[in-house]
Amino acid sequence: MKAYNIVSLKKFNTFGIDVKAKTLVDCQSEAEVTEACKMAAGERRLVLGGGSNVLFLNDFDGIIIRPLINETEVLKQTGTDIMVRVGAGVVWDDFVAMCVERGWYGVENLSAIPGNVGASPVQNIGAYGAEAANAISSVNGFYIDTQKTFSINADACDFGYRQSIFKTELKDKVVITSVVFHLKTSAKLKLDYGDVAARVEQMGSATLANVRKAITEIRRAKLPDPEVEGNAGSFFKNPEVDAQLAEQLKGEYADIPSYLLDNGKYKIPAGWLIERCGWKGRTLGKAGVHARQALVLVNKGGASGADVMQLANTIVDDVFSKFGIRISMEVNLIK
Ligand code: FAD
Ligand code: EPU
Repeated sequence: MKAYNIVSLKKFNTFGIDVKAKTLVDCQSEAEVTEACKMAAGERRLVLGGGSNVLFLNDFDGIIIRPLINETEVLKQTGTDIMVRVGAGVVWDDFVAMCVERGWYGVENLSAIPGNVGASPVQNIGAYGAEAANAISSVNGFYIDTQKTFSINADACDFGYRQSIFKTELKDKVVITSVVFHLKTSAKLKLDYGDVAARVEQMGSATLANVRKAITEIRRAKLPDPEVEGNAGSFFKNPEVDAQLAEQLKGEYADIPSYLLDNGKYKIPAGWLIERCGWKGRTLGKAGVHARQALVLVNKGGASGADVMQLANTIVDDVFSKFGIRISMEVNLIK
């Protein structure tokens, strides 16, 4: 276990916000995680993975636990089913690459999402018609206060759109140390989002490797690279509105995109709403709206959390006054 005191968090968050933590503890094993949990007694605590979905608003006066457990173990392979336990510290996209190489179906549409495996159940990462919840079997780890282990089956994780029990009841109470995934050696590929099918067809054949390549290319073309321009992916969630408001908006804006959900509501892309408010590519102080994806806020250089929030709040107000929809944040604010 390695503990660092009064440490800059700039390289531990993809927004590149320069704040300090009182203590940062790197844990390479479950035993080290329990040690770190003991150190957290009476302290403010935060569990951090790759820092690609957080916005620090202040220095963090407490202990930050980083579970860097890096082991992957095949638990069972029967017929076309594979159960694999993956350590929280494995880089998510390395796990996806390994699955695609081995011919394991289930996470290929989630290619090129930054961050670590331990965070994948937290907001139930999703992209290109798939969600982590589709492939997760169980989530395992420790309660910080008691250091007791837990293992929660996927059906008890309360997974939803960018939602899980780890963002509600268990927020800041547990350290996830591993996730068990249920993958398949044969399955139908999901190609129905945007131009994925067209790209895959151009590549010749619908294979796991081509789906991964197509999605990685689409993402690279529109999302900013955090190494170049700090960001945390989509800053806001896509709002769900009731049928009445959706109909009213369609009357006013003929080109408004909307997707009917199983619950009868409509999902409206927040990127479209923000673009229509004129924010795409614009800056406010040291923060800006990405020029190719209006849902992504970026650090234009030296921004503080407050700078990003000033822009975010202005956008929320503008979207509300124009469309009557209050968009909510997807990124975790660390106060
Ligand atoms: P962190 O940012 O470190 O943490 C995120 C949250 O999870 C925090 O609340 C933290 O306390 C908690 N947490 C992290 N690890 C643990 C753990 N082991 N135990 C308990 N709690 C934990 N997300 C998507 O869903 N889809 C996308 O398509 C997508 N695209 C992105 C593109 C870019 C360019 C970027 C920068 C981000 C994108 N994201 C996307 C957001 C982000 O990649 C995911 O949310 C990712 O899962 C965050 O992983 P992380 O390890 O960086 O988590
Ligand atoms: N759009 C615009 N202008 C923009 C951006 C989007 O009009 O600047 C509209 C277009 O109509 C476009 C539609 O929004 O067709 C959807 O855009 P896109 O496919 O880029 O997806 P998104 O809804 O903006 C969501 C996720 C992403 C995920 C993609 C692909 C959320 C909050 N975001 O974005 O996740 O990668 O779909 O599935 O649901 C993240 O969570 O960090 C993230 C990047």
